[in-house]
Amino acid sequence: MKHLVSVPDPVPARVDLEAVRAASEEFLELFYAENPKAGRVGPRIAAVKREIDLTGTYWHTTEELAFGARVAWRNNARCIGRLYWHSLQVRDLRTVSRAGDVARHCFDHLRVAHNGGKIRPMISIFAPETPARPAPRIWNEQLVRYAGYEQPDGELIGDPRYRAFTSELIGRGWRPPSSPGAFDVLPLVVETFEEGPLLFDLPGHAVHEVALEHPELAWFADLGLRWHAVPVISNSRLVIGGVSYPAAPFNGWYMGTEIGARNLADNDRYDLVPEVAERMGLDTSTEATLWRDRALVELNRAVLHSFHANNVSITDHHTESRRFLIHLEREEQAGRHCPTDWTWIVPPMSGAQTPVFHRHYNATPQLPNFITDPDSTHRALQGTPPAFGT
Ligand code: ARG
Repeated sequence: MKHLVSVPDPVPARVDLEAVRAASEEFLELFYAENPKAGRVGPRIAAVKREIDLTGTYWHTTEELAFGARVAWRNNARCIGRLYWHSLQVRDLRTVSRAGDVARHCFDHLRVAHNGGKIRPMISIFAPETPARPAPRIWNEQLVRYAGYEQPDGELIGDPRYRAFTSELIGRGWRPPSSPGAFDVLPLVVETFEEGPLLFDLPGHAVHEVALEHPELAWFADLGLRWHAVPVISNSRLVIGGVSYPAAPFNGWYMGTEIGARNLADNDRYDLVPEVAERMGLDTSTEATLWRDRALVELNRAVLHSFHANNVSITDHHTESRRFLIHLEREEQAGRHCPTDWTWIVPPMSGAQTPVFHRHYNATPQLPNFITDPDSTHRALQGTPPAFGT
């Protein structure tokens, strides 16, 4: 049968009811165990089971939602900053499902989380995936990301990580600034089943950046480097008790090495180590002078110094490593397993100088958690495939 309008009916997703029931029960047991004031778990489990039988899903209470999001952070094996998991601010936006509204609330998120520089860890949770209606998707890996442009002569301007994403968005009608720069903020892409993928330029008030300068090397500022203040991951699915929230952007604050030892330094990102070494006048004729290491340190000093000078929250890898060990100790005292992935926790510079290097961890995954599906990763880097076609 042909549809008269071009908007297709939502296809009821097939759900494994038994799996949803089991996951809901496991989560509710955890919620009531850690929140004794909530009362008895039995009646809630019975009510949720009835709701699942009727609708294929269930609606978390506000308290369950906030707890689930915080525990998803607590369980995230790749995050060194989990000491503050309890302070995560949760914005319950589950009734928001239209692309334009999702985008607007994302821009609010950026502003409220930035908080004049005193960054607040925060999550915005949009409509869940339900059998009756697919949830909205955010294509971008983070709310703020920089475009990467391949020039006709093969030279690359901007962040090489988003070169394919950028050209896909240009193909979809995004108009980059007339002269492409190294730090052009990409538009946000929000896709809903009903509307398809829509592009939204970020308003100026949503994007806070720090211009980079060095505490001693005056020429450093002339490099014209900058980075955005708030890292808001936006393509991970929040999974709580058998319910998925594919659009649930969340942020903490930066650890300096993420910017100074990866984003600006990796060979396949901004690759700035050779240029910094050059300007420092280091002998780059042999690896044995450790010019890479020396330039990397100054690049990282510049990042920490500039964020501090601008009163924007940031942490260094030594401090954060120690905090993480305090977190592990607390989790152990609470009798909980803390999933931890060594390869992500050890900082990308001076690893063995930090205490997190010198030990083993148990990485066995645990829910609730943030899960990045292969599709979302592909979409965030290549701009394909759309979640719902076209
Ligand atoms: N590494 C990512 C970036 O450089 C950010 C990941 C989340 N980081 C954080 N501190 N919450 O943009």
